[in-house]
Amino acid sequence: MRILVTGGAGFIGANFVAHLLAHGAERVVVLDALTYAGNLQNLIPVQADPRFRFVKGSILDRTLVENLLADEKLDTVANLAAESHVDRSIRGPEAFVETNVTGTLRMLEASRAHLEAHPELRGRFRYLQVSTDEVFGSLKPDDPKFRETTPYAPNSPYAASKAAADHLVRAWHETYGLTTMISNCSNNYGPYQFPEKLIPLVIHNALSGKPLPIYGDGQQVRDWLFVEDHAAALATILERGKAGETYAVGGNSERTNLDVVGTICDLLDQHRPRNAGSYREQIAFVTDRPGHDRRYAIDASRIARELGWAPSRSFAEGIERTVLWYLDHGDWIRDVTSGAYRDWVAEQYA
Ligand code: NAD
Ligand code: TYD
Repeated sequence: MRILVTGGAGFIGANFVAHLLAHGAERVVVLDALTYAGNLQNLIPVQADPRFRFVKGSILDRTLVENLLADEKLDTVANLAAESHVDRSIRGPEAFVETNVTGTLRMLEASRAHLEAHPELRGRFRYLQVSTDEVFGSLKPDDPKFRETTPYAPNSPYAASKAAADHLVRAWHETYGLTTMISNCSNNYGPYQFPEKLIPLVIHNALSGKPLPIYGDGQQVRDWLFVEDHAAALATILERGKAGETYAVGGNSERTNLDVVGTICDLLDQHRPRNAGSYREQIAFVTDRPGHDRRYAIDASRIARELGWAPSRSFAEGIERTVLWYLDHGDWIRDVTSGAYRDWVAEQYA
């Protein structure tokens, strides 16, 4: 596999790149615009590998993408680059449409042009769009889980932009015969996640002695997927997925937000106890997110049955590894929580 990974300096991208290189990829080229969410430190573990190359640039730059595909003789694309934070999409939706929708359009058009220029790649070329379960909307407590056939019903500007991108990918397969696949995964967690998302934000705030903000009643449910399991799922889809198909990828770990935050507090109490009392005392209920989806859950039986992938870690294992990783990587947290990060937190949690 000679692959272009967009958004490879972000959370999932960096974990995916490490997985690809550890599992025999011939060439891995990362294209990343290094927005506030992208961080070259996430790629330090792979930077010395001669099969790896980093290019700073945007997926909106179709010429750059086309040149990279040609110069590096790439036969695979995984599009992970995106604006990915729901709360930011509520405050400023424009960037989400630009990057997630127009960016995907440019990636598809660059891929199509690459194949026209290199017809010998036709049987081999594969394009994977990394999407989200949020395109399906919100579940009631007893609703069946999301699956590949669930109708799209996005509720946030972020989810709407990801849904729009998925529709483009589908159309480029149907209309132009591009070999595309889409994965819709549940909430990821693990090393290198930017501390604007719930789990790293709570770990960071707990250690800094700050409140642990729970939106609304904290009874919203997410289906947590350990990021290294997700990386393995993406590689599996690229290797064995069928053209034009979508795959739902989940962790089989539904938890309420309050449960998740409580578990993090208990782990921190065990591994980095406060001078007195429990981190649970820092929990603070704050104003709910507008349009807050109540429950997400994924039925990942198709990818298990057809491609042989299933998550390998329980939530208990994954969350402990995650907490320990953040405890061991104080420098990383310090570096990514300066400047723009502080401005965001001040505005969002004012
Ligand atoms: P992230 O925000 O950590 O990383 C996104 C990366 O994309 C960053 O490195 C950023 O610099 C880069 N980027 C942004 N705009 C770009 C552009 N125009 N050109 C090139 N690079 C650009 O996001 P993540 O959590 O790693 O998510 C990766 C993908 O997975 C996204 O497409 C997201 O929608 C999807 N996803 C994430 C989750 C999750 O729980 N994190 C769940 C479902 C789906
Ligand atoms: P988040 O990590 O932003 O992911 P997503 O919105 O894509 O699911 O949020 C996970 C859940 O945690 C979601 O229900 C919102 C909630 N949440 C809080 O309660 N407090 C917070 O400070 C954040 C960032 C999220």
